[in-house]
Amino acid sequence: MYWDTPRLRLDALRPADAAVLFGYRADPEVSRFQSWRPASVAEAADFIERQADASLEASDSWFQRAIRLREDGTLIGDLGVHLPPDAEGSVEFGVSIAPAHQGNGYACEAVRAVFGWVFGQLGRHRIHASVDPRNLASMAMLRALGMRQEAHHRESLWLHGEWVDDVVFALLASEWRAAQPAR
Ligand SMILES: CC(C)(COP(=O)(O)OP(=O)(O)OC[C@H]1O[C@@H](n2cnc3c(N)ncnc32)[C@H](O)[C@@H]1OP(=O)(O)O)[C@@H](O)C(=O)NCCC(=O)NCCS
Repeated sequence: MYWDTPRLRLDALRPADAAVLFGYRADPEVSRFQSWRPASVAEAADFIERQADASLEASDSWFQRAIRLREDGTLIGDLGVHLPPDAEGSVEFGVSIAPAHQGNGYACEAVRAVFGWVFGQLGRHRIHASVDPRNLASMAMLRALGMRQEAHHRESLWLHGEWVDDVVFALLASEWRAAQPAR
């Protein structure tokens, strides 16, 4: 299963992606505010292997997609979607783009495809993302996507040896529909 956007293809991570995945996921610019930081190419390969059995039907698990340039298949990032077990639960997502490819609108383009799928095909009610407020690029991206800041939890997570704040952004299906251009 894959999704296409004007410039991107979102599909499964493959064993051959391990070195590139490790390259950008281990980069401090990408990993600083994330819980998962691969320590080796082997750990990235293991992550990909564990995703091999992932399916949309297997709810309550993270469904990870590669983000590739459609023109030549280059892996430029990845995106995870968490579907809660109950149909009424809020869907969560997270996205990473390799530093060499940041600033081109790719993250927003990929996440908008996810919104279309979550609110369109799946008919879900709400999507959210959780971010460290020091992560200015992510805060800007979530606002650019039309998401609202709903909460700021102070020192609510223990991550990489420190207490960190957690800011929650959300978007409702009704808000997403209202923002769609009229056809
Ligand atoms: C957050 C991230 C995915 C954005 O990827 P990207 O492809 O560069 O984002 P886009 O080009 O789609 O930009 C999205 C918006 O954020 C803004 N933005 C992106 N990086 C920014 C930065 N460093 N500072 C300020 N604004 C920034 C863009 O200007 C754009 O807003 P606009 O449409 O109003 O101009 C990327 O910086 C990243 O991978 N960060 C590390 C991983 C991470 O922390 N992920 C958690 C996300 S939940």
